[in-house]
Amino acid sequence: MLALFKFYHVFVRNICTVLTEYFILGFNHIREDSITVMVMRMRNVSWRIDGKHILRNISWDVRPAEHWAVIGLNGSGKTSLLNMISGYIWPSTGEVSVLGSRFGECDVRDLRKSIGIVSASLQQRFYSGETSLEIVLSGYDATIGLYDTPGKKKIASALTLLEKMNCSQLTEQTYGTLSQGEKQKILIARALICDPNILILDEPCAGLDFVSREHLLSTIEHLATKSFVPSILYVSHHIEEIIPSFSHLLLLRKGEIYAAGKRESLITTETLSDFFEMPVNVHKTKGRIWLSVNR
Ligand SMILES: Nc1ncnc2c1ncn2[C@@H]1O[C@H](COP(=O)(O)OP(=O)(O)O)[C@@H](O)[C@H]1O
Ligand SMILES: [Mg+2]
Repeated sequence: MLALFKFYHVFVRNICTVLTEYFILGFNHIREDSITVMVMRMRNVSWRIDGKHILRNISWDVRPAEHWAVIGLNGSGKTSLLNMISGYIWPSTGEVSVLGSRFGECDVRDLRKSIGIVSASLQQRFYSGETSLEIVLSGYDATIGLYDTPGKKKIASALTLLEKMNCSQLTEQTYGTLSQGEKQKILIARALICDPNILILDEPCAGLDFVSREHLLSTIEHLATKSFVPSILYVSHHIEEIIPSFSHLLLLRKGEIYAAGKRESLITTETLSDFFEMPVNVHKTKGRIWLSVNR
């Protein structure tokens, strides 16, 4: 009898959790594949171009429900690494699988539809006269510019997403008049419109003042705390941008993995001083991490 009661209790609780996600948090649909399939796997991956090794011997797994921060100094290979995940560059040696599909055995153009990307270089490419709503809608076909007239359903979804990102007031404002931080939020909404399984944010806070940066980070934090969200891969060279939701860290140095694993095990004075090749002190407050140089 007790076992039956326990089973009933767990069953009802699980059903309630799923319904809460679906109706209250307002996600469009629940993607079972994002819960069960390995998100990304690299095995002994290297990338050489013009005789230069950019990435060397990378083995890295991203499992469901993990959010990763990829940290490394300028030129360490962060963007190259993420360009490989989205199939824009091909490994010279080694294997890459994304969402269970192995590169070389699948159409990467299809795979890309499951990956939302926001990067500094992308920000420059949009037309300044387009409204925020049009920019978000262009995410459906991943185009720069809106070439089709979207239906009512798509417009309604875009408006809902803008509202969730606290950007409703920007709906009709043209892209060229948005602040840097607002542009990034609109581009994140654009990346999310197709409900991707992976969201790549490549230095989204670059060029923001510290107040705008904190606003953007709290938007990302809010997004990451929902249960049914894409796996976030967040690239930065700033340790202080590692918000609490990033469960895992990959420290990349000169194209090689220095260390990868749970954030708490890597955020230590010894590890980071060795990683940066500079003595630093680590300060932790309210789930955030700050560094000072220990001269
Ligand atoms: N297409 C390319 N051709 C030649 N070198 C490249 C190419 N892409 C990146 N690199 C080089 O690879 C290194 C790593 O670049 P990148 O991945 O952009 O680093 P990060 O994003 O960490 O700043 C840099 O030295 C850069 O010049
Ligand atoms: Mg980069």
